[in-house]
Amino acid sequence: MHETFLFGRMENMNDAINNEVPKAVLHIDGKQIELPVLTAADGHKAVDVSKLYDKYGITTFDPSLNSTSVCQSTITYVDGNNGILRYRGIPIEQFDRPQPNFIEIAWLLIFGVLPTRAELREFRDRLTSHELLHEGLREQFSDLPPKSPPMAILAAMFSQLACYHEKFLPLDDEELFIEAATRLISKARTIAAYAYRRSKGLPFTYPDPALRYCANFLHLMFSIPYQQYIIGEEVEDAMNLVLILHADHEQNCSTSTVRTVGSARANLFASCAAGVSALWGPLHGGANVEVMKMLESIYQGGMTPEDCIKAAKDKDNPFKLFGFGHRVYKNYDPRAKILRNAADRVFARMKESDPLLDVARKLEELARKDSYFIDRQLYPNVDFYSGILLRAIGIPPNMFTVIFALGRLPGWIAQWKEQHDNPLQKINRPRQLYVGEMHKNYVPIDER
Ligand code: ACO
Repeated sequence: MHETFLFGRMENMNDAINNEVPKAVLHIDGKQIELPVLTAADGHKAVDVSKLYDKYGITTFDPSLNSTSVCQSTITYVDGNNGILRYRGIPIEQFDRPQPNFIEIAWLLIFGVLPTRAELREFRDRLTSHELLHEGLREQFSDLPPKSPPMAILAAMFSQLACYHEKFLPLDDEELFIEAATRLISKARTIAAYAYRRSKGLPFTYPDPALRYCANFLHLMFSIPYQQYIIGEEVEDAMNLVLILHADHEQNCSTSTVRTVGSARANLFASCAAGVSALWGPLHGGANVEVMKMLESIYQGGMTPEDCIKAAKDKDNPFKLFGFGHRVYKNYDPRAKILRNAADRVFARMKESDPLLDVARKLEELARKDSYFIDRQLYPNVDFYSGILLRAIGIPPNMFTVIFALGRLPGWIAQWKEQHDNPLQKINRPRQLYVGEMHKNYVPIDER
């Protein structure tokens, strides 16, 4: 049987005159099916196939969701072809200098507008009041093996927050939601720092309510009893910038995981714990760790930058040039651009340098003039320079992805809320194209 899975041309049905939604036409099995065409704020078109299965028993096939818009959203805009990223309409570059505070950006993402001074003060006070962990939760860190990966601890502790804050499991009330969100953002910082201290066998330090969000995190990471960590302004600014640049990135792997879990009406803690697990993967948030291993290996003489480029191009070699390429950006990732410049600034302010930055620049130079990378539109992504900046401010590699998670948390919460507040949202339940055997009989074990 010959089937034509063919979308006809977009037919603009003169909606300006008769107010009808534009349609796309699908020709299949001799039938002609009209599908509504939705238009995004930038003019991008999306064929609405949401009723295709119920009405016609037909599904679409898009295994890694490359051509599928899974929701309508007003939070973050990405234009991958032109290297544009905006939070609630504001270009990411405007958060570089003068730099807002990370929690201001968290508010912007979650509530859709920049906070007033009074709102920001109240938000800050709420965050401060929730910075301590329940002693029961804190004690649980001691039961974990000392070498536990911090991302495993973070995911586990996010889930466990549900055991200590049961009243936040159903979040149908706005005030309860704000309370849950502030608890999560505040405690995430304490959990993240404790995960590190556990891996080092260091005693836990209590948060300092006098410090701002990033400074408090650095204090929790690095102060030891009777020796307060002195936080340089450039270090706090760099940390703040890293968190802002990671705060949201529309429907990436971890965010769509948070939305999928949340679509089952799972609570905020469980949904964000799932986001942490997704982020851990080396193709996603774990890439910055791989970048540093790669740069270190080059620096230590394990391979030359040229070897590295050659290995990345070799189809028989699973090696990738980590920190390069992106599903959406077919241009320079704007976050990478800001981070590269920030790394230069931080080193200048600290009067220090890092030979790995030179290695990274050399790799970028080689890749950007190589036809393999040019033809595939592979540019540095956010992970290429973030590790170098984190290293400059003293963050160890096993915490890189944890920092990413800390930054991404407001985005996950904003996306979870947007979905939760949408009365039309149903549980996410993709379909499949079954290609296995259609019918087979069970054979008892003795007869096999
Ligand atoms: N090194 C070498 N080749 C690459 C790289 C890379 N870093 N990235 C993509 N390619 C190649 C692919 O092999 C493929 O080649 P082909 O067309 O000859 O088969 C082509 O470029 C297209 O790549 P895909 O893997 O199809 O692109 P996809 O959108 O599925 O993957 C991804 C995007 C996962 C980010 C990929 O570029 C990658 O693995 N990069 C390295 C890991 C990384 O840096 N991840 C962080 C991403 S940003 C983030 O999540 C925060």
